[in-house]
Amino acid sequence: MKRLGLLFILATFSVIFLTACGGSQVDVGIILPTRDEPRWIQDEGRFEAALADTDYSVEILFSQGSTATELANVETLISKGIDVLIICAQDGAAAGAAVQKAKDEGITVIAYDRLITETDAVDYYVTFDSIAVGEAQAQYLVDHAAAAAGNPLYLYAGAATDNNAFLFFEGAWNVLQPKIADGTFVIANSSEAVALQSKATLTRTEMGDIIGQVTTNWDFDDALSKAQTHLTANPVNLKGDVSILAPNDGTARAISDAFSDDIDIASFVISGQDAEIASVQYIIDGKQSMTVFKDVRTLVEDAINMAVTVLEGGTPTTTGTYDNGVIDVPAKQTDVVVVDAANVQAALIDSGYYESSQFTWPS
Ligand code: BGC
Repeated sequence: MKRLGLLFILATFSVIFLTACGGSQVDVGIILPTRDEPRWIQDEGRFEAALADTDYSVEILFSQGSTATELANVETLISKGIDVLIICAQDGAAAGAAVQKAKDEGITVIAYDRLITETDAVDYYVTFDSIAVGEAQAQYLVDHAAAAAGNPLYLYAGAATDNNAFLFFEGAWNVLQPKIADGTFVIANSSEAVALQSKATLTRTEMGDIIGQVTTNWDFDDALSKAQTHLTANPVNLKGDVSILAPNDGTARAISDAFSDDIDIASFVISGQDAEIASVQYIIDGKQSMTVFKDVRTLVEDAINMAVTVLEGGTPTTTGTYDNGVIDVPAKQTDVVVVDAANVQAALIDSGYYESSQFTWPS
């Protein structure tokens, strides 16, 4: 009896102590890659909206493009007692060391949007269908090419440290390669892609060779200067009406600006991804042709449902697996939607994703 009483006092004291420390116990830790890209600010906002009514305590931290900060964030969240870590890696391979630390503490690790590779310390993966993203971008270029043959094709890719950059490129190549082989497109800015243009399927190393040459590093400035360099180097027969594979919205806007500034470019069709507000405006204004809408609300909901299932002792439902180089990671995958000027109102406004007042519409 005495012992129980002592335990009770100790337990009460601990609760008061935790409360006095600002209630620092956290159930779910969320780490996102950077505040510098609107895509991840979208995710933060959608997480906050979805978590407004939860009983669990959650903390969101940003890695600001740094693997070292990402590791420090994981350590901070471990020290706050998290049971589940939801993490979108800055660098898919480098994040292995960080999530191993979480795993060592018995924390369940959910890779969010970007797969963490070369480790067995990842339990689940929530993602969009990234191959379908690349296929949709490429199909749009095929469907909207200006001429039946000989369309100059400019290829750009994401950061080579992001596994998604490979999946997007793989999807795009699936659709573009036959159209390069039959003469619909002529590659205008990558000798590595030209060297591989007769291959229907590329190895990861081959994709890496092309991505290494046309990477934007997911950086607007890199994208802009790379596009300007290509335009400066190219003769007029690789200009005129052109097609541009841009990997996401931020880089698409930068590349669009560079191509708009070249007097030898008559018109261009350019892809994107993320349905960022600024790119939706570019689409309305005719400066970006399309975006691939990834409904972040669904991804957030999947990640939270997984986390809550784990916290309540259950096993999350998954729909397939992704090979991360070491294990097959159980995954839940979400479909994507193509948006252009024709369906922007229906897909993004009528669906309640954005408010009409966030945009300037043609009068
Ligand atoms: C995400 C994209 C995003 C890109 C750059 C990718 O991993 O899937 O939505 O545009 O990273 O941050």
